[in-house]
Amino acid sequence: MSRKIHIFDTTLRDGEQVPGAKLNKRQKLEIALQLAKLNVDVIEAGFPCSSPDDLKAVQAIAQEVRGPIIAGLARTVREDIDSAWEAVRQAERPRIHVFVGSSDIHISKKLRRDRNTTLEMAAEAVRYAKKFCRDVEFSTEDGSRTDFDFLCRIIDATVNAGATVINVPDTVGYALPEEYGDLIRKIRERMDPHVILSVHCHNDLGLAVANSLAAVRNGADQVECTVNGIGERAGNASLEEIVMVLKTRYASYQANVGINTQEIYRTSRMVSRIMNIPVQPNKAIVGGNAFAHSSGIHQDGVLKDRTTYEIMKPEDLGIKQHKIVLTARSGRSALRHRLGELGYTLEADVFERVYNRFIDVADRKKEIASQDLQSIVEIEVFKVPETYSMQSMQIMSGTKMVPLASVTLLRGDRLITDAATGNGPVDAVFHGIERITGVHGKLRDYDLKAITMGRDALGEAMVRVQIGETVYSGIGTSPDVIEASARAYLNAFNRYFANGGAAMIDNPQALKGEVQTPIEMSASRE
Ligand code: KIV
Ligand code: ZN
Repeated sequence: MSRKIHIFDTTLRDGEQVPGAKLNKRQKLEIALQLAKLNVDVIEAGFPCSSPDDLKAVQAIAQEVRGPIIAGLARTVREDIDSAWEAVRQAERPRIHVFVGSSDIHISKKLRRDRNTTLEMAAEAVRYAKKFCRDVEFSTEDGSRTDFDFLCRIIDATVNAGATVINVPDTVGYALPEEYGDLIRKIRERMDPHVILSVHCHNDLGLAVANSLAAVRNGADQVECTVNGIGERAGNASLEEIVMVLKTRYASYQANVGINTQEIYRTSRMVSRIMNIPVQPNKAIVGGNAFAHSSGIHQDGVLKDRTTYEIMKPEDLGIKQHKIVLTARSGRSALRHRLGELGYTLEADVFERVYNRFIDVADRKKEIASQDLQSIVEIEVFKVPETYSMQSMQIMSGTKMVPLASVTLLRGDRLITDAATGNGPVDAVFHGIERITGVHGKLRDYDLKAITMGRDALGEAMVRVQIGETVYSGIGTSPDVIEASARAYLNAFNRYFANGGAAMIDNPQALKGEVQTPIEMSASRE
């Protein structure tokens, strides 16, 4: 008999814990609206007590997103639960999600308590949350490493206190599919069948999806996961993989999910771009190569009959191929039409920005593919306010010279130009941006990829830049990969300014001495 598996998406909470992936209210809301289109059952929108901004973002999601349950996370303390309720109370279907570490490692080393105190605090917290909200989830953090008898005791206590969902996470990704499956079966057998049993797996050993599926086979009703599998450390179980396994291998699991798979690809791209976390090319379901057939034998097979080497249809994931190509000669109405097909309805001012950027790119690239357009749109739609915007850049580089970049940025109505050298052209242009802004960044991550095939492919650069103690992410696209990198770097700097960071213009003393000076050319390097 077929049963329903609830998909609990925690991209906006566990996924947002990735360094540099912090989102603002508008970005969180956009992703939540897309998750509702994807038709997830639950959106864990944040950890409201973690910051006033997160509380406001969860509140906005609760007010505006209709369909899924909206959950807010809380520790077993009243202030957390008060914030969580404050954040989700206006949702159509609110949920408070309370958690506490239940393994001896967590209880003794992190919480510095004993088992009984932890159990009493958990039950008390659920009772307190129940005063506000009918739907309360309780998580036994590090559940897979928790002593089984104690796990049963804490589950019984919280169910008796009114928990409607019990989640048993594999917090550190330590479990193996057989043992996690057994654990879930034993809990399911002894727990009230009306209480939803949930699983939440991390990917430290690369087993998050396998463990989640073993749990489904053994009676789990809800799977907690994230888009693209992002999350703490090696990430969480990937939503799209779980969903597509359950759909593609339906006969094996006899489990239904309500996910609108046509929205999977779009959601994946949106999360990747807004959070600036690239998707690895060989990632199952949504990676750039997931449907690319490169060997001659495979291509031949797919041309004769696609089922020879394809077990899913790209169209079912919303990966569309459009016959009409957009070029620099395509007007506004062709662009608007294609945007509509891709599911975007843009406000007039955003449409103008997208159009201008489209023309700028199309002037340098013969044809603009849908993927190129999606990248342009998402960057323009979620643009951080630009303290500095890129006006122009020139690079001189070669095998026998120190690369030199001249960069011109616009700040208000001032055009500021400076030049810098670097270890390569990208480094030189980054130094140029630093010299103008007076801010020094440490590049923590740099990813560059071609969005489509071909020599004139649009390059998409994603960076993570540490400024002071905080890591800011940035994204940029251009047919010129150095320009794409410069735009991404500047985008990260603009995030820093949007968060109150000072530029040298505003505070010349603050950053003195930190900015790298140009590399001096020595005779031996000529
Ligand atoms: O990994 C974990 O245990 C968690 C809990 C807070 C549910 O994220
Ligand atoms: Zn987690």
